[in-house]
Amino acid sequence: MDPVDPHLFVIFGATGDLTQRKLIPSIFRVMTEDGAAAAHNLLGVSRSAWSDDDFRQYTNQSLHTAGYDGSLVDEWCRERVFYHQTERRATDLDSLRERIDTIEAELGLPGNRVFYLALPPAAFSSTIDQLGQAGLASGPGWTRLVVEKPFGHDQATAHQLNDQIHTYFDEHQVYRIDHYLGKETVQNLLAFRFANLLFESAWNRDRVEAIEITVAENLGTEGRADYYDNAGVIRDMVQNHITQLISLIAMEGPRAFDADDIRSEKVDVLESISPIKAENVVYGQYQAGLIDGEPVPAYRDDPEVAEGSVTPTFVAMRLSIANWRWEGVPVFVRTGKRLPRKTTQIAVVFRRPPVCIFHGVQDECTSHHNVVILTLQPNEGFEVRFDIKAPGSPLTLVSQPLRFDYDEAFARLPDAYQTLILDVMEGDQTLFVRSDEVETSWALYTPLLEMDLPVLPYPAGSWGPDEVNERLGLPNGWIMRPE
Ligand code: BG6
Repeated sequence: MDPVDPHLFVIFGATGDLTQRKLIPSIFRVMTEDGAAAAHNLLGVSRSAWSDDDFRQYTNQSLHTAGYDGSLVDEWCRERVFYHQTERRATDLDSLRERIDTIEAELGLPGNRVFYLALPPAAFSSTIDQLGQAGLASGPGWTRLVVEKPFGHDQATAHQLNDQIHTYFDEHQVYRIDHYLGKETVQNLLAFRFANLLFESAWNRDRVEAIEITVAENLGTEGRADYYDNAGVIRDMVQNHITQLISLIAMEGPRAFDADDIRSEKVDVLESISPIKAENVVYGQYQAGLIDGEPVPAYRDDPEVAEGSVTPTFVAMRLSIANWRWEGVPVFVRTGKRLPRKTTQIAVVFRRPPVCIFHGVQDECTSHHNVVILTLQPNEGFEVRFDIKAPGSPLTLVSQPLRFDYDEAFARLPDAYQTLILDVMEGDQTLFVRSDEVETSWALYTPLLEMDLPVLPYPAGSWGPDEVNERLGLPNGWIMRPE
């Protein structure tokens, strides 16, 4: 049985990069790999003066680039892909409504609609108003609104955007995207914790000494410096993606695997994070350096970056969660551009045994921390480090890994957008950010964004400013320094 109801998928921003790179290939995969044949009615909307045929060619090209060709692709583009030009004025959306009615009548669709805002954030607000005013917030069937990130620029603007959305749409119609939630390994955090008693029973302040989250990228701003220079690392990575990781790693078990139960538990954790103190934050900005042995220029050398910009491209922070489970357990977070390599990892570092019976020379305890390292990308998998006695004498302990790798067990991980688009079509909001969740997250970071903190230089290809470990009081440096 088809998992999705017949519907029309309407993309605003149809001629943009996200549509071409992610949305079109993902819709095609949902149709062909997830058995959702009804996922095939696509209407692209944008300001460009394109015809249906232009957009069909564009769709075809996007699929070709993603590795799909052949008669199914041609047939889809010819029969089920449409385009509508709009200036995004209210009157234009009246003409869009008429176009939607016509397509639905032609294809015999029942009036279920997805409106996907793949637009620059400055266009969210006016488009939502126009959709509402053109009477498109509800229709003959269900109507769903998908909003891309960034959702707001701070707490006030996120609140304003939520208010505006709620003027026309009910929260159950709204899907705020954070593509990290579509990643298989991020969803697995819930399974790892709540399907395995082995770990969950030790997942607390009694057993855990620290949590480390590293989201490292070796890329720079890649042609997006214009956006990035106004956003910076907190808005670009921390308020959304990293905050999702913190809430999934630290939340209590939900009552059931249900969108609202899970999201309520996530909000609870976010509300328990103590206000971030200036002394627990180190910002950095990359200078010229070497990535994979190749020289790369400094952030400020990008012509789109404002002269003398102090936008941070790196942050390391120490957070605390003031609740019964986590009080006293520091959560160390670091993320940045132009670090040595791309990796997203979470390390849960367990306490050492309360009494040491294994001593080495100079009477030092030789036992190590048990560590669970969850590698979310690339080389997805996890590792549990534990001590064993090295064969022979004298008795010495060595830390050894027990590993699980996704690519040894499974053929291919679905793309994050494929997962999220299927969920939108199925009406499952579990992997989307609820209105209170996004505002709670902004409430945490807005005071930090208002502080005037120094931004320290770091060479591209390093792990950030040298000051990080000392300033944040990392007892043994970072566990995660993947080579
Ligand atoms: C995006 C940020 O949301 O996430 C980018 O805007 C960042 O700056 C990207 O590079 C990272 O996503 P991923 O999936 O490559 O880890």
